[in-house]
Amino acid sequence: MPAPPRTGPARALVTGATAGIGAAFARRLAADGRHLVLVARDGDRLAGLAAELAERHQVRVDILPADLTTDDGCLAVERRLAESAEPIELLVNSAGISLARSFLRSTVEDEARLLRLNVHAVMRLTLAALATMTVRRDGAVINVSSVAGFGAVMPGSTYSASKAWVTNFSESVGQSARRYGVRVMALCPGFTRTEFHQRAGINVSKMPDWLWLSADDVVAEALRDLGKGRLVSVPDWKYKAAVFGLRHAPRGLLRAVGGDTRARVGRDER
Ligand SMILES: NC(=O)c1ccc[n+]([C@@H]2O[C@H](COP(=O)([O-])OP(=O)(O)OC[C@H]3O[C@@H](n4cnc5c(N)ncnc54)[C@H](OP(=O)(O)O)[C@@H]3O)[C@@H](O)[C@H]2O)c1
Repeated sequence: MPAPPRTGPARALVTGATAGIGAAFARRLAADGRHLVLVARDGDRLAGLAAELAERHQVRVDILPADLTTDDGCLAVERRLAESAEPIELLVNSAGISLARSFLRSTVEDEARLLRLNVHAVMRLTLAALATMTVRRDGAVINVSSVAGFGAVMPGSTYSASKAWVTNFSESVGQSARRYGVRVMALCPGFTRTEFHQRAGINVSKMPDWLWLSADDVVAEALRDLGKGRLVSVPDWKYKAAVFGLRHAPRGLLRAVGGDTRARVGRDER
């Protein structure tokens, strides 16, 4: 099917744009001259960031407040992704959460909320984006996953399992989308300084400084890897080494390291 002609400027849509890695994507893409659509729940914070980026970089920045754990929130973003007048050429699914407690002490409500945001929303928005991108034969999706998805290093946590899904899903869909000229990539950062751990109530005070990445560096490496056509991006050499270990080390050793990690990040998994 021939690609429909573009009738307006292309832009990027970033979820989780008010903080952390999503905000770093928004800043970098605006600095690169991209028009943006920013999604998160906090409308005031979205509006503040949009005004700042529009003024500093002379780009158009629209905001779309939405709670992506809800059907209405996902539907609003799906509708925007389907608009052909101002097509979305890059979707970044960055919104995501973790929980600070063991599955053994969790609730259905909390676990369902995590899965709705980390898995269900990512599936829905990727599907909506690919519907138009594959017809236009142009576009890319970055799904923010995690190094945690490569192994059960946080025993009792559904977070790692949700990120294993995001990485596997993105790598798989990325192979199907390639033949349409569309890229899908899983971005798998390690510990990154954002609001993430504080929001979840995870105590990271014992984590050594050298383990931390900056959100700006994560985004720069992600965009480089997307340009190279990678299906999975793991920023920073120390986390590349960690992923190699997680993929190839004996499971018993990983379980022992997992227990140690759990102690250092102050989780109560007993
Ligand atoms: N930080 C790390 O160490 C790390 C490591 C590996 C992977 N990651 C992944 O990186 C991604 C971004 O995390 P981050 O570290 O940047 O976290 P963050 O600083 O806490 O930012 C999370 C963003 O998601 C938005 N959000 C949260 N719940 C939402 C909902 N229900 N609907 C819509 N938006 C929602 C938040 O805005 P509102 O509150 O305004 O909605 C915020 O903009 C996540 O997928 C996370 O799993 C993080």
